[in-house]
Amino acid sequence: MKNRDYRPLVFAHRGGADALPEHTLGAYLRALDEGADGLECDVRLTRDGHLVCVHDRRLNRTSNGRGLVSTKTLAELDTLNFGSWHPGYPVDEEFPDLARLLTLERLLDAVTASGRPVRLLIETKHPSRYGAEVERRLVRMLQRFGLADPKPDDPVQVTVMSFAALALRRIRAQAPTVPTVYLMEFVPPGVGRGRLPFGARTAGPGVDLVRARPALLPAIRAAGHRTYVWTVNEPADLELVLAQRVDGVITDRPRFVLDYLDRL
Ligand code: G3P
Ligand code: CA
Repeated sequence: MKNRDYRPLVFAHRGGADALPEHTLGAYLRALDEGADGLECDVRLTRDGHLVCVHDRRLNRTSNGRGLVSTKTLAELDTLNFGSWHPGYPVDEEFPDLARLLTLERLLDAVTASGRPVRLLIETKHPSRYGAEVERRLVRMLQRFGLADPKPDDPVQVTVMSFAALALRRIRAQAPTVPTVYLMEFVPPGVGRGRLPFGARTAGPGVDLVRARPALLPAIRAAGHRTYVWTVNEPADLELVLAQRVDGVITDRPRFVLDYLDRL
C-alpha cells in the first residue's frame, strides 16, 4: 500500500502496554519518545475521589495489591508497586517511573510540562458505577490544566472516550468543546447508519468488530465522522484497518505500528 497522503494517528494504548507496565509514566514517556502521536489512558475513581489511571476494577493484575480500586484511598494506592508484575520491569533506567501509581494529574503534569504535541485519549471507567462523579472530576481537572476548552494550536489536546453514551452526554453538558469518541464492541442502534450519540465526532470500534462488519466504517465515515480503532497489535489487524483508512490506530505496540507505517 503506497499512499503518501494517508497516515493514521498512532495512539499508545495504556501507554504501550506490550513493552512496559501499562499505565505507568515511564511507559507513556517512552511511547512519546518512540514517536506516538498520542496516548490512551483509562481513568477510575479512588475512594477519596482521585482519578487514577488503572484499567481493571481490581488491583490484582497490575499491582502487588488486592481488592477494588474504588475501595482504596490515593495514599493507600501510592504504597503499591504497579510495575513489578510485568516482564518488562525494570527495563530501562531512562524511564524510571515504572512502579508508581499514575494519577491523571501526574500524567497531565508530565505531558503539559514536556512541551510536546500530545493527543491524549482519556477513557472514563465506569460511568454507571460512579454516577456522574468520574466525568465531573475529569472536567474539573481539565479546567485546572486549561484543557477543557481546546484551541487548535494547544500542544496538548484531550479527547474523552467511553463505551457509555451517558458519559458522552455528561462531557458534552460540562465541556461542550472537548471532543469525544464513542467506543463500541458491538453496533448500537443507529450507529450502523452513521449516527453517533451526544455530539461524538469519532467512532471507536474494536478491531474484531471492524472485521465482522466491513460496512461499518464506510457508513460512519460517509456520515462525516472519524474512526479510531482498538486494539491493533497484529500485522493482519493493522493491514485491515489501514485498508479501511482509519483515522487513528490504538495499539499496545506503538513502535511496531510506527515502523510499519514508515515502511509503506
Ligand atoms: O481504546 C479503547 C480501548 O482501550 C477499550 O478497551 O478494555 O482496553 O479499555 P479497554
Ligand atoms: Ca481503554
